[in-house]
Amino acid sequence: MEEIVQKKRMLSGIQPSGDLHLGNYLGAIKNWSGRAEQFDCFYFMADMHTITVRQTPADLRRRTLEQLAQYIACGLDPEKNTLFVQSHVHQHAELGWVLNCYTMFGELSRMTQFKDKSAKNAENINGGLFTYPALMAADILLYQPDLVPVGHDQKQHCELTRDVAQRFNSIYGDVFKIPEPYIPETGARVMSLNAPESKMSKSMPEGCVFLMERPEDIQRKFKRAITDSDTENCVRFDPENKPGVANLMSIYAAVTGKTYEEIETEFAGQGYGAFKPKVGEAVIETLRPIREEASRLLKDKAYLEGVYRGGAERAAYEAEKTLRKVYKKIGFLAR
Ligand code: TRP
Repeated sequence: MEEIVQKKRMLSGIQPSGDLHLGNYLGAIKNWSGRAEQFDCFYFMADMHTITVRQTPADLRRRTLEQLAQYIACGLDPEKNTLFVQSHVHQHAELGWVLNCYTMFGELSRMTQFKDKSAKNAENINGGLFTYPALMAADILLYQPDLVPVGHDQKQHCELTRDVAQRFNSIYGDVFKIPEPYIPETGARVMSLNAPESKMSKSMPEGCVFLMERPEDIQRKFKRAITDSDTENCVRFDPENKPGVANLMSIYAAVTGKTYEEIETEFAGQGYGAFKPKVGEAVIETLRPIREEASRLLKDKAYLEGVYRGGAERAAYEAEKTLRKVYKKIGFLAR
């Protein structure tokens, strides 16, 4: 008999809450295109999660589409990956409600992200912010994935997802596959250009290079990048004493494929004044095709619509199988 080997499934959600930057790209997205060879990959724009914090409607709509275009431009091929928008697949909201009833108040109270976010948003600590992990559990469990790639900050939510799934399964039998969180080996850990002790972040825009940014703005940020306070003026990899230089070297290494040794040799005898614009140029050339492709896609609304509609259709087909099973198990009358 012929053996059919099923690819393992992977699923991840991305909040369309801001513009993508070089840290997102080199640290994560760059490596995603290759995953599709090995895994059956689902990615969605988690718009339902973003409204736990107040949003400007027109911005949310624009960012959701822009983010989709940027991910495709970074190499996520819609023919090989299922790309969709969370709110287009109503099963998320439905299973989210069910799982709310299988997630304990105490568990939700222990989520560090809830504690952080409610401290920062004291004027809007809404119910959605609190129960968000139950919706995230639904996002995941609907698709029966093997792996959920997430950043460190989402590990606790993934563990809660496993607990909720196990609780449900222990009552009703094997309904949900218990997924493994998968914290990918990060590519480069990119730090802020003007505060190299902090991660590159859109909240510090002068130290942050956005994927859609104009080359001249990128070059200006690199020219102003912090190097170090010593007077050595020498390109040498020493993250402890020269974190700014080390950050620039690791960016340069990531976009050129060169080793630190090769970089040191390349710039031997030249100071930071020569090095910084070289890094800027290399980054500009890496981002150029992404920016151009994303802009082209954004002009082709019909194409993007086709992508997210097709993605939602495929996603809903998978999600509905799980939801129907859940409704039956918990005793909802079949329609
Ligand atoms: N909570 C995740 C974040 O803030 C986004 C997310 C929502 C997610 N649902 C998910 C990630 C399901 C993985 C799986 O980054």
